[in-house]
Amino acid sequence: MGRIAEEKIQEIRDRVDIVEVVSGYLPLKRSGVNHQGLCPFHQEKSPSFNVNASRQIFHCFGCGVGGNVFSFVMRMEGLSFPDAVRRLGEKVGVEVEEEAVSPAEIRRREVRERLLRVNEAAGAFYHQLLLEDEAGASGRRYLRQRGYAGETVRSFQLGFAPEGWESLATHLAGENFSVEEARMAGLVRPGKQGRGDYDLFRNRLLFPIQDLQGRMVAFGGRVLDDSLPKYINSPETEVYHKGQVLYGLYQARDAMRHSNEALVVEGYFDVLALHRAGFAGAVATCGTALTADHARLLKRYADKVLLIFDEDAAGKQATFRAMDALLPVGLAVSVVAMPAGEDPDSLLKARGEEGFRDCLAAARPVLEVFIEDRLHNNDQSVEGRARAAEQVLERIRLLPGDLERSLYLKRLAALTGLDVELLQSKVRGGHVAPPTVRRAAPPPSPVRATAQETGQTQKYLLRLMLVDDRQRRQVREEGTAKLFLDEFFSSLADYLLSCEDQEGRLPANLIDASLDESQQSLLASLVLQEDQGWADNPEKIFTDCRRAVSNSLLKQRLREIRHLEEEAQRNNDEAAQERYLRERTEINQKLKKKL
Ligand code: UTP
Ligand code: MN
Repeated sequence: MGRIAEEKIQEIRDRVDIVEVVSGYLPLKRSGVNHQGLCPFHQEKSPSFNVNASRQIFHCFGCGVGGNVFSFVMRMEGLSFPDAVRRLGEKVGVEVEEEAVSPAEIRRREVRERLLRVNEAAGAFYHQLLLEDEAGASGRRYLRQRGYAGETVRSFQLGFAPEGWESLATHLAGENFSVEEARMAGLVRPGKQGRGDYDLFRNRLLFPIQDLQGRMVAFGGRVLDDSLPKYINSPETEVYHKGQVLYGLYQARDAMRHSNEALVVEGYFDVLALHRAGFAGAVATCGTALTADHARLLKRYADKVLLIFDEDAAGKQATFRAMDALLPVGLAVSVVAMPAGEDPDSLLKARGEEGFRDCLAAARPVLEVFIEDRLHNNDQSVEGRARAAEQVLERIRLLPGDLERSLYLKRLAALTGLDVELLQSKVRGGHVAPPTVRRAAPPPSPVRATAQETGQTQKYLLRLMLVDDRQRRQVREEGTAKLFLDEFFSSLADYLLSCEDQEGRLPANLIDASLDESQQSLLASLVLQEDQGWADNPEKIFTDCRRAVSNSLLKQRLREIRHLEEEAQRNNDEAAQERYLRERTEINQKLKKKL
């Protein structure tokens, strides 16, 4: 991927006005130095969404989202950073040509472009057939039998592939697509013994799989009777990686954003059924397990995921695999159980919207379901319970929030009869989070971070660093590692220090694409609070932060000592026991003094 030149990004940023861009999506009203409106990223009745023209940033005090004009467009349109830059560039007439695009990259883009065009042509052909062509009559009948009318057909661009072996191949040739293009898209296959290419989809109802811009990248096709295979899907291509696409996301994302909740189901028809019944935030994987990429995609639109998989062994397995992908990105995950043998489509048919709502209301946190499952599947001996606990601990470690971790540890302790302190120390011991993991697994959102005891103080210190050059110098001298307890805050502090110019001042444009979403949000909220003034005494904030860090180190040492003492006791090592006792007393005194 060629990089966009930094000057170009700068030029576009200088020319666009965030107030104007945001106003294109929602009405804004002036309020003091800011503009305010109803947040497009969560459901609210009174406006907590702020846009600041002089700093060119936005922030929602309701859901914590914030950033600059690029992050706004990325979120709103589901675009990557370069695409958001390009989109805004077009708006203000700055053409974005990229530096150093390799010939291979140029070739790859051409291929992608052609694949998108051929998929689009095929999708239009199939859709038209289903809507009105004689050849699509059986497809229409099938859909009508399952209760789907024109509206669903149109919003999901459903299609029908006719009987013949070469219907699509002939159509595409007529539209001047080459055989090679149709083959590359996986829509036709070379015939044997000199015969012409034949269509992959024949006599099937087609579900176009769309990317975030609504472009068709692949198809899933269902037979109209009981023959097998029930579904066939397009192969992976340059434009289709099934591990990165969710069926129905294009149609579902606004609803997800508003309810802050995503429904993940197994089948194409389940997505249709849920949309039709008004549960519009539903998506399905395309016949594959949920991946980390899927998880990150969902996290853009919602903080909660409800998993609705079959109640059989395979469904269970899919549920727990999904859990492993979803928890690390900071999504809250619950499981919705369907009555045996039902899926959302069949359940809605049998029991209507009400029946489905009852199931939703009975959703349970996935870890709770997992704990039960593990305890059930390991025997009740001490070893069995320990094994179950190990498997659960592995997942508890994935939880980004301290509060949740401790809740589940208590639950696990209660269910296994194992000591909660022991479980706690095991979670900590095994929890290695090298800084490189942070991109893939975003840190807790700023909203959640406030729940941490010291979060508020650390935020104050960051604010100090923003408004006061002298304080920032002091942070640099002390070292961020000594002042910030959480990696999330300390990396932001490091970032601020790295932004300083030669005179030790911060630039006006602080928010940069190198920050992840939650860091951008926090920074935006701090910047917006900047003018509010504050009574706190900076010295106290320094000492509070410093103390939080050292207390946490001391507490960690205490936990170690407790285990070391037990070991010394077992070994009858009295000298060691005494040594640890002394150290423990000293630490306890220090901790007391500092309170
Ligand atoms: P299901 O067999 O549960 O089908 O497969 P369904 O979605 O409920 O469809 P209906 O209601 O019987 O018409 C669930 C999903 O698994 C994938 C498809 O994505 C399907 O929607 N699948 C299933 C395949 O890719 N290939 C298959 O042969 C079967
Ligand atoms: Mn079904």
